[in-house]
Amino acid sequence: MTSRTAKKKPTRKATATAKKTSRKKPTKLRAKSPETNHKSQLYANLVVQLLSLLKGEHDFIANAANFSALLFNSLPNVNWAGFYFLQGEELVLGPFQGNPACVRIPLGQGVCGVAAQQLETIIVPNVHEFPGHIACDVASNSEIVVPLFDGERLLGVLDLDSPLIARFDDQDAEGLNELATVFVAHEERLGP
Ligand code: SME
Repeated sequence: MTSRTAKKKPTRKATATAKKTSRKKPTKLRAKSPETNHKSQLYANLVVQLLSLLKGEHDFIANAANFSALLFNSLPNVNWAGFYFLQGEELVLGPFQGNPACVRIPLGQGVCGVAAQQLETIIVPNVHEFPGHIACDVASNSEIVVPLFDGERLLGVLDLDSPLIARFDDQDAEGLNELATVFVAHEERLGP
């Protein structure tokens, strides 16, 4: 099954469950779970760490390499984290952490190629159910691919694999998109 990340849903407001006569505050129907809070904190910390890694350095490959190492070493249950960059009609392997991977992925093929073609973040809870999934590491069971944009232009994708089924959710998509935006914005600011 494949799920594409939806646009950020508006926060569901708690409805008043208290009777009119009660002065008690309405109970929130959906409190954030500890796991949710933990993930948002983790991604907030990663933004700070990424900015610190990027500070003053403009080498794109070096920064992408450090970014992939940060993700690989900070996110639990991730066995591959790295980049594929767009070259013509195909994606070419960039800096990464994990097992050696396939070097070239045509647009529209595999999870990376589909995400790049559709310009969408794709979360795959079970890669074995994704038609055309390209298996680079037999240990991988779930995957998330985030497109990288320079304005409207597609630069490539950020790809993460996990040995766990359904490792990635909308919070990961949101956090990784924010990190990708920080990364690209830094590169744009410093220029070549
Ligand atoms: N699984 C990806 C290929 C890249 S590796 O996971 C590193 C895909 O289907 O596009």
